[in-house]
Amino acid sequence: MKAILLAGGKGTRLRPLTLHTPKPIVPIFGRPFLHYQIDLLKQVPEIDEVMLSLNYQPRRIEELLGDGSELGVRIRYVVEPAPLGTAGAVRYAGDALTESVVVINGDVLTQVDLPAVIRLHRERRARATIVLTPVENPTAYGLVETDEVGNIRRFLEKPRPDEITCNTINAGLYILEPETFDRIPKDTAWSIERSFFPSLIERGETFVAYVHHGYWIDIGTPEKYLQVHRDILDRRFQAAPFAGEAPATWIAPGARIEEGAAVAGPAFVDEGVVVKAGARIGPYSVVGQDCQIEEGASVEASVLWPSSRIGREATVRQAILGRRCHVGHSVTLQGGVVLGDRSVVTDFSRL
Ligand code: GDD
Ligand code: MG
Repeated sequence: MKAILLAGGKGTRLRPLTLHTPKPIVPIFGRPFLHYQIDLLKQVPEIDEVMLSLNYQPRRIEELLGDGSELGVRIRYVVEPAPLGTAGAVRYAGDALTESVVVINGDVLTQVDLPAVIRLHRERRARATIVLTPVENPTAYGLVETDEVGNIRRFLEKPRPDEITCNTINAGLYILEPETFDRIPKDTAWSIERSFFPSLIERGETFVAYVHHGYWIDIGTPEKYLQVHRDILDRRFQAAPFAGEAPATWIAPGARIEEGAAVAGPAFVDEGVVVKAGARIGPYSVVGQDCQIEEGASVEASVLWPSSRIGREATVRQAILGRRCHVGHSVTLQGGVVLGDRSVVTDFSRL
């Protein structure tokens, strides 16, 4: 069995972070996001190849993941000549397939029981099965209506508030039968959500829902990107180094917390970080490799990518900083600020 990870989007909502780091490999506690998705696929030993469907900055992703041997999977890269949309990408990657395929949006993190989804697909002899999850506000997602026995009745991508009829949305995980791919025109941009799924309903195909009530998130906005870190620190999603009984604060063996500096967890401080005297790392901080936190600075509820420097007496609260940022002396960053790689914030600035 094969899997296709749809990882070709531009990640516009995560700009400027995604200008140099495509969304599928943004770090979560120092690990590229796709590693977490590959962990999920490894629940299914039958999957013998993961196809990464790419078009935006494919080289960066390939360099990082290689042939997959380090992750214990076989990875094949399928780079589209131009963005083909979510359905076009599936057809382009999966044209030669003859058996059921698992398709996953490259930006969702979930603890869904994937083997159970595949079992349901087979029991129902479905042509397509999609995972649904309940959310409070479906407007940012694909709304999916089902009947009493779990057949999909209606699919409405990005509904307006007055179009909301239920709380279940498309979680971005599908089991598809390749013989349905002939509904997707070749080499044309085509949407799985707006065109392919509605066409299955129109033709009365067996199109089945698996409703997942556990953890699920789409990491594609700065708010959700911060939230996924909080959720892992709070163990709402189990992942290393916080899974199970592990302490809520992880300080890498090679980090240096100077005397008189404080770390108040839950928090993550990666290799090579230096926290100087009088500095404070507060709850829900994620400090990437080789960051330097100067005397009297304070970091809280923020995610810092590697190699940034936070100047003396600066305050960073609820912010995301790309790589190699330089935050000056007595700067205040707060309230959802997002800085791209190599940003320089002058002493005493307030953002
Ligand atoms: N290869 C390829 N080519 N991948 C693409 C393309 C493309 O042209 N366009 C988008 N993708 C990938 C993105 O990288 C992402 O991983 C996934 O497809 C979904 O695209 P998003 O842009 O993140 O869509 P969304 O979050 O607005 O909505 C989708 O996900 C929701 C769940 O998170 C839809 O599938 C919704 O129905 C769903 O509810
Ligand atoms: Mg998304």
